[in-house]
Amino acid sequence: MLTIKQEEFEELKQFIYKNYGIDLTKKKHLIEGRLGNSLAARGFSSFREYFEYVYNDKSGAELSELLNRLTTNHTYFMRENAHFEYYKNTVLPELFNTVSDKSLGIWSAGCSTGEEPSTLAMLNDEFFYGKIGWDTRILATDISDRVLEIAKKGVYSAEAVEKFPQEYRKKYMKPCENGYMFLDRIRDNIIYKKFNLMDEFRFKRKFHVIFCRNVMIYFDSKTKLELVNKFYEVTEKGGYLFIGHSEYLDKDAIEYDYVMPAVYKKG
Ligand SMILES: C[S@@+](CC[C@H](N)C(=O)[O-])C[C@H]1O[C@@H](n2cnc3c(N)ncnc32)[C@H](O)[C@@H]1O
Repeated sequence: MLTIKQEEFEELKQFIYKNYGIDLTKKKHLIEGRLGNSLAARGFSSFREYFEYVYNDKSGAELSELLNRLTTNHTYFMRENAHFEYYKNTVLPELFNTVSDKSLGIWSAGCSTGEEPSTLAMLNDEFFYGKIGWDTRILATDISDRVLEIAKKGVYSAEAVEKFPQEYRKKYMKPCENGYMFLDRIRDNIIYKKFNLMDEFRFKRKFHVIFCRNVMIYFDSKTKLELVNKFYEVTEKGGYLFIGHSEYLDKDAIEYDYVMPAVYKKG
């Protein structure tokens, strides 16, 4: 296994922080653990040599693979379920009564393998059933190609699916070789795209709801605040931001109004 020298660690840390906002300060052992063996097996004699290889790979595939290794993509259905209850019982009825062009802007930012946007798509389908003319498609983004590939397939193990109500599984999934697959009416309502949250936000329209949960835990407070300000700019008046329950935001430093734990609204 390759060990990472302090100066190599500093270089990687700076590079990842500058480009992706992810703070690797306490992750030296994690990096060695996730990369050390495979780099040695691929014939690299040092992390330095590997970095040169990544920088020189114009296809971007090596960088993408590095990001796949460094990001933590843990997620599951119904995570922090109080948010989905609030979305279903309060946010959707509110949007139904206020969005006059019947076109919703919903963004799952840092969607990982798709459990979060799929849950939102099921709730949308249930709520808007029989309500004609609504566009309820969800934008779901992540920087990791690996998780986006999994999300696009929409296939989950029986064990993963156990976490959500069985009536949803029966209504919105069909059994397949590796577990269960979402029906087209769910998959077609999620648009998966690769997007780095550190990049400039250039969206054609604003969002009524942004879910960015358990993503900012990897960012330092400056990066987090800058990102929340960017979210605010692209939120419709009256729209919502949902963050993870363990992600603290200083209410005095942000423009959103606090609604309940980890839920904010643009007044
Ligand atoms: C732990 S998952 C969260 C998944 C889901 N939102 C949830 O709460 O269960 C965090 C995701 O954020 C993504 N991520 C980290 N930094 C990012 C960045 N700069 N831009 C976009 N996505 C990022 C990671 O690739 C990872 O899939």
